[in-house]
Amino acid sequence: MSSIKNQNAVITGASSGIGETIALDLAAKGVNLFLLGRNIKALQTVAGKVDQLTSQIHRCQIDLTQDAEIKNMSDYIRKIFGHIDILIHSAGVISLGKLESAPVEDFDWQYKTNVRAPYFLTQALLPLLRLSGFAQVVFINSSAGVTASANVGQYAATKHALRAVADSFRREVNPEGIRVISIFPGRTASPMQEKIFRMEGRIYQPEVLLQPQDVAAVVINSLCLPSSAEVTDINIRPMCKSN
Ligand SMILES: NC(=O)c1ccc[n+]([C@@H]2O[C@H](COP(=O)([O-])OP(=O)(O)OC[C@H]3O[C@@H](n4cnc5c(N)ncnc54)[C@H](OP(=O)(O)O)[C@@H]3O)[C@@H](O)[C@H]2O)c1
Repeated sequence: MSSIKNQNAVITGASSGIGETIALDLAAKGVNLFLLGRNIKALQTVAGKVDQLTSQIHRCQIDLTQDAEIKNMSDYIRKIFGHIDILIHSAGVISLGKLESAPVEDFDWQYKTNVRAPYFLTQALLPLLRLSGFAQVVFINSSAGVTASANVGQYAATKHALRAVADSFRREVNPEGIRVISIFPGRTASPMQEKIFRMEGRIYQPEVLLQPQDVAAVVINSLCLPSSAEVTDINIRPMCKSN
């Protein structure tokens, strides 16, 4: 396995759930971190947890649906890091509903956060990724990006679109030595999943779900692969335990 120690990583959705756990695991590997999210208090808490583990930790409050904020933040990252080795897109939102009744405004909101934001952020940071010499971009997708169940049409459509963005981007930048990884987790114990259980009127049972640590582990393993290989797509599901 290759070492990623002292590499520079930018992580969206770092204030919660899967993004937070990936940040902790990257810090444990000695990676310099730039944590992004809207909730600055939560970002500070995450930064506090990783402070001892890595030499550089930065955090930036950003609403990824605002283009101007992405532009300003890219300039800021350029000044601080100079180049980026790892970009993790974990920020995401979900709303449920049948096509007959789900407000179309909810669709716009999910599209903006789940597709447009990672697209525009990648575009803005590509010059810094190119300076790495061997950069890696990870898109946290979803099992809904592979198969759409009932009531998740809007969210699943955004995650299918995100897959297309990643697949096309991979073909564009692989020749430059940039690896692109999509991961498609099933239900994962996180604040988002707790909200989904609530919306479904079910009792939240995090213990039967994937854990954010499971998702983070496969992401870190993929990032540490030697440069001769590229993991393109990872499907990961909760282990079904039957009595
Ligand atoms: N949990 C699951 O079951 C599951 C399964 C498959 C895929 N996923 C995907 O995994 C990713 C992470 O989800 P999670 O479960 O970790 O959810 P989470 O705990 O709710 O975290 C979502 C993150 O997205 C950030 N975010 C949302 N909107 C944003 C915006 N406009 N600007 C900046 N940041 C924004 C949030 O930051 P702030 O709150 O600080 O704004 C938060 O850090 C998502 O892409 C999700 O679709 C989750």
